[in-house]
Amino acid sequence: MSDSPLSVYPVKPQIQATAHVRSMAEYERLYRLSLDNPEWFWGEQAKTLSWFHPWTQVFDADYDAVDFAWYSGGRLNACYNCVDRHLPTRGDQTAIIWAADEPGVYKHITYRELKHDVCRIANVLIAHGVRKGDRVCIYMPMIPETVATMLACARIGAVHSVVFGGFSAESLRDRIIDAGCKVVVTANVGMRGGREIPLKTITDRAVDGLSLVESVLVARRTDKEVPMRQGRDHWLDDEMRKQRSTCTVEWMGSEDPLFILYTSGSTGKPKGVLHTTAGYMVYAAFTHKTVFDYRDGDVYCCAADVGWITGHSYIVYGPLANGATTVLFESVPTYPNAGRYWQVVDDLGINIFYTAPTALRAIAQAGDEPVRKSSRASLRILGSVGEPINPEIWRWYHDVVGEGRCAVVDTWWQTETGGILISPLPGVTPAKPGSATLPFFGVKPLVVDPESGKIIEGNGVSGALCLSTPWPGQARTVWGDHERFKLTYFSQYKPYYFTGDGCRRDEDGYYWITGRIDDVLNVSGHRLGTAEVESALVAHEAVAEAAVVGFPHDIKGTGIYAYVLIGAEYQDRDPAQLEGALKEQVRHAIGAFATPDVIHIAPGLPKTRSGKIMRRILRKIASSEYTGLGDTTTLAEPEVVDKLVAQHRLRFPSKE
Ligand code: WTA
Repeated sequence: MSDSPLSVYPVKPQIQATAHVRSMAEYERLYRLSLDNPEWFWGEQAKTLSWFHPWTQVFDADYDAVDFAWYSGGRLNACYNCVDRHLPTRGDQTAIIWAADEPGVYKHITYRELKHDVCRIANVLIAHGVRKGDRVCIYMPMIPETVATMLACARIGAVHSVVFGGFSAESLRDRIIDAGCKVVVTANVGMRGGREIPLKTITDRAVDGLSLVESVLVARRTDKEVPMRQGRDHWLDDEMRKQRSTCTVEWMGSEDPLFILYTSGSTGKPKGVLHTTAGYMVYAAFTHKTVFDYRDGDVYCCAADVGWITGHSYIVYGPLANGATTVLFESVPTYPNAGRYWQVVDDLGINIFYTAPTALRAIAQAGDEPVRKSSRASLRILGSVGEPINPEIWRWYHDVVGEGRCAVVDTWWQTETGGILISPLPGVTPAKPGSATLPFFGVKPLVVDPESGKIIEGNGVSGALCLSTPWPGQARTVWGDHERFKLTYFSQYKPYYFTGDGCRRDEDGYYWITGRIDDVLNVSGHRLGTAEVESALVAHEAVAEAAVVGFPHDIKGTGIYAYVLIGAEYQDRDPAQLEGALKEQVRHAIGAFATPDVIHIAPGLPKTRSGKIMRRILRKIASSEYTGLGDTTTLAEPEVVDKLVAQHRLRFPSKE
């Protein structure tokens, strides 16, 4: 290892190497094998799943059409792999521990109970006309019924589209329409940090007038009564009571769709990323086992929301395929105080804990005291995901939370990748705080020069992060728009997959993800397109034009900064009131998490003479970087830049 200003954390003797890969030499040998002979490698991993019919070909691709097929000829079922196959050996083992929003309230669900719930819900779906290939929208809080509904869809071959409970009615409606969902499953309310989220009311607004939606099934999170529309709305528990606890498994082709998950890109509306059955399941299960060193009997907790890919792969499909006990954490890290995570860790004896840097930053603010109140003796592995983890927070996680005993795994991946692609292996890979370290098996990252599109070889280089090898968990298409899939991911650096991230490969070949280099913001680990926020803003009658950029934010990682041009008839409005109205507009159109931190009512936007907005300049100003703005004389109105700088300085005087 070369000297680095950031210390290298060698693997400590007290951290046991993973049960699955025991040393760097073994990692290197297997990594080479996985690249030299991927068909053999991925064929071996697939054997850990249960198949109704084995595959005939591990991998096949048509690179021109961007058409990938894994495990062709095979038949299997994701729900069967997550539930039924465990019953003979672990029917009485806890599959899910629900940690309710209310501190200290837990519910344990065994694999057998899970199977019964899943089958009942599957039968309810069938009774409401859902058949193989139909889409079901899940807009639910973090409750056991949510996981059971995802698995119930998988059981009968329906394709679920989970929409995060923080999205607005408008966003939900768009997703229901795009995926063509005939059934929506929701709850009367959700609970988060002691606050009630009116999920059913939002659903009502989303499906109002949509003839497409035939049934709305409503889980009961609390006793609260909500208006139920006759003929369309049904209480899920009432419906479940009418059904049997067995339901035939639909044997799916390997490439049959498993789920759609909407995610943001540089342009247009969010796209429905499609994952298929076999490859996704193999990848989720294998990465869960290897990266988290999951061992039989471990209690595993991923504190993400099932509305995002992390929840799909590492709360539901990966852990349950491995027969794990997976914790479903309904609350937020700061409720009722910053010690909540560690309270849950102690209460449940959690061995593996996985969360996002934004959550760690939020609780680290409260200091070490809330951490020290807990023992955390059960912890062995600490995971991070969703955004770059700053080295200080990495060290806090490692030294304070893990007391130097635990391995920290900083895992880089995306909705589109299905599972983890760059990560240390615990107890094996020496860590560097802030680096996701080395590629997982079968993954070959490339650093590409964004200007020339040429691959940059060697170490000590940076550029756009691309991937040159296929892997089983990769997304297959964008729902209903394969051209968009090709264009977004496989056209910029053809034939490679472009991640949208920038990265540096250091002298040791370690990867440092530097963040998005497209027009996607990563706000508190949530992906958001600047174009989405802009179109929400211009939908307000006062706004003539909007340009949204990110800026460094202590807790969120990236904050949202919106420059808006106001129409002439609104010029004399009270700016504070207008800013409030515009924030509300975005909250209404997308969801609370997308609310801009700053609305800057601007006198103009820096544009080239051909009318292109110079976002680079806007980003710099929003980040209080007033120098190095480049040659502004070529702009249509160069003086606009000075005005924007002056306004920003006035508003944020301390930031320089
Ligand atoms: C970012 C979340 C740095 C990255 C699983 C990526 C990360 C985007 C890391 C995907 C990490 C995720 N270090 N950045 N360990 N993990 N990212 O689709 O910018 O919600 O492109 O998937 O999050 O976000 P998504």
